Amino acid sequence: MSKDIQKMIELAIDKYKDFHREGRLPTYIPALSEANPEDIGVYVSDIEGNNYYAGAYEKKFTIQSISKIITLALAIMDNGVEDVFSKVGFEPTGGSFNSILEMEKSDSPKPFNPMINAGAILVTSTIKGKSNAEKISRIVDFYRKLTGNAHLTMDNKVYTSEKETGHRNRAMTYYMKDAKIIQGDAEEILDLYFQQCSILVNCRDLARIANVFANDGVIAGTGEEVIPQNIVKKVRTLMVTCGMYDASGEFAVRVGLPAKSGVGGGIMALAPQKMGIGIYGPALEGKGNSVVGMKVLEELSKELNLSIF
Ligand code: DON
Repeated sequence: MSKDIQKMIELAIDKYKDFHREGRLPTYIPALSEANPEDIGVYVSDIEGNNYYAGAYEKKFTIQSISKIITLALAIMDNGVEDVFSKVGFEPTGGSFNSILEMEKSDSPKPFNPMINAGAILVTSTIKGKSNAEKISRIVDFYRKLTGNAHLTMDNKVYTSEKETGHRNRAMTYYMKDAKIIQGDAEEILDLYFQQCSILVNCRDLARIANVFANDGVIAGTGEEVIPQNIVKKVRTLMVTCGMYDASGEFAVRVGLPAKSGVGGGIMALAPQKMGIGIYGPALEGKGNSVVGMKVLEELSKELNLSIF
């Protein structure tokens, strides 16, 4: 089996290496447009402790929206399920990740779910800490624990680039401020969100985080529970319904795994009780998901019969 997975990853990379041409590098955060669209990396980490990897699996990129999963788990651990979901909903929007429209159109100003930017910014605002510095250090420490990588840092160039150009996120944060559904200083909340999105990871880091979510919140091989199982199950469910934004329906049919994408080109996916998968391919389709990442995941899911449905 092990040799098969290794071979499969290598074959999938070879098969889909030209598919980046169907996508584009994001330009709305200017620093992200400097990535190499030809890079593809894959890392699979199963809960028995076996690892399989190929391509640009060590290349670092910013975690971007994949951070929404991890910060959501931390926010629920900080505040409880009821409190977090009194502020943010559960429903997919069918709209883009940075849409502001739904909040104003619906009866309640509450963001539809924690995966779209508005919901994620709100979730980040609930992280406990006396100052922004304490909050970001709690967030980074949590990411370090999940990845087992004590050296995780931020990409300052991407952080500054997004801070300078993130006017849409700024607009939705002030909208939520006006609607009185977000507490605290809007600029500080945005700063925390931009910092969390700029954390640098590679495919191995993503596969390890996914592995913890696959293993019901326990770091495989250690027995250490870092996220309570009931929280893991809620987050995994939101990954299925909203993790790939307005492509979540098609992704569920084609791949059938809880997953979360980021505009840095990463996708983190997991097969419960089996494995975590981290993929990198920076060219994105129109909905903000890695084109190559989705193709490789479809192939792996089919070949390894991973779909949860
Ligand atoms: O807030 C933003 O727009 C980015 N920092 C993150 C968006 C993102 O990764 C969407 N994912 N595919």
